[in-house]
Amino acid sequence: MSEMNLKEIRAKARELAKGSCRVCPTCDGRACAGEVPGMGGTGTGASFMNNIAALRAISLTPRLVHQVHFPRTETEIFGLKLKFPLLVGPIGGIAFNLSQAMGEADYQEAIVFGAVDAGIVAGTPDAAPMEVMEVGLAQARAVGDGRTVPFIKPWEAERIKRELAMCLEAGSRVVCCDLDSVGLITLRLMGHPAYPKSQDELAEIIEAAHKMGLAFLIKGVMSLADAEACVAAGADGLVVSNHGGRVLDGVPGAAAALPLIAKKLKGRVKILVDGGFRSGVDVLKGLALGADAVMIGRPFAVAAIGGGREGVAFYAETLRAQLEQALIMTGCPDVAQANQDLLWPGPSRDLA
Ligand SMILES: Cc1cc2nc3c(=O)[nH]c(=O)nc-3n(C[C@H](O)[C@H](O)[C@H](O)COP(=O)(O)O)c2cc1C
Repeated sequence: MSEMNLKEIRAKARELAKGSCRVCPTCDGRACAGEVPGMGGTGTGASFMNNIAALRAISLTPRLVHQVHFPRTETEIFGLKLKFPLLVGPIGGIAFNLSQAMGEADYQEAIVFGAVDAGIVAGTPDAAPMEVMEVGLAQARAVGDGRTVPFIKPWEAERIKRELAMCLEAGSRVVCCDLDSVGLITLRLMGHPAYPKSQDELAEIIEAAHKMGLAFLIKGVMSLADAEACVAAGADGLVVSNHGGRVLDGVPGAAAALPLIAKKLKGRVKILVDGGFRSGVDVLKGLALGADAVMIGRPFAVAAIGGGREGVAFYAETLRAQLEQALIMTGCPDVAQANQDLLWPGPSRDLA
């Protein structure tokens, strides 16, 4: 594909995904409701759909009397320089979630290298078979400079510590535990259940990570109580997320959970958010609601399947350009200055 365009990428992805992902005009969880394994949200799909709805419920305020012509989009988290505040969310199990639309290794290579080409960073997944993490870590070694974030499932502490050591050996600086994976049906189906952790258990795991010099994030935080417990246990950052709606039906959208958590904890730890973010405008909404960076999952799977590494970089660059335009249109000179003042007055702004 010489001239990348999203229409062609999406058409090819639709063909290769063989119905496991319909590549809908808006990726909103309606067509794939209940499809886990698959690309959907669990049960009625409400948690996935709520991610979209929560973002739609907030609006930006246009501001045009100002001198913001070239807003700054660069940022840094845990020493990782990002051209703009976005990470590619980890997606694993291409064989059973996406009808083998791509080999697992080819997928992780496209995601990791495409992200780096676009000046950002991708997350890589973990799963019951240890080989899944190995596939991501092989890409981490290949891309170098610690420019991936490996995700670790909430296994028993000994396996987590073993995986931390593997991440360190692969050159990682930051790791993330998707604590909410305890709700994943796929782990149970494969006989490798993961369990919730007490604050003390988390503290022990995080201490082990810190001793290795690794920053430790926790993903799947939706309540202030969990957020405060994770921070008390030593977490360096949180990902406000309902796992793309895949682990518990009937949960609010992440953008609805974010403001309260950010209000209490921003500045003390890094705050990331994911779930339903689709455009650069959505990324700006996430920043305005209090996130330091946003993650996007499924649309990058479409980009990787339909366009490989180039497709991933192309979609990321599209998001960056949209974000830049949104910063100009709201009069925000720097992503670091995005705050609730960019939001149209209403309940979500009052909370932020
Ligand atoms: C097929 C699939 C596999 C996923 N695998 C993982 C994983 O291994 N680890 C993880 O933390 N999140 C995983 N996620 C969740 C995503 O990283 C992310 O949180 C979610 O997809 C964000 O929502 P979005 O897709 O609406 O952007 C997966 C999501 C999907 C759809």
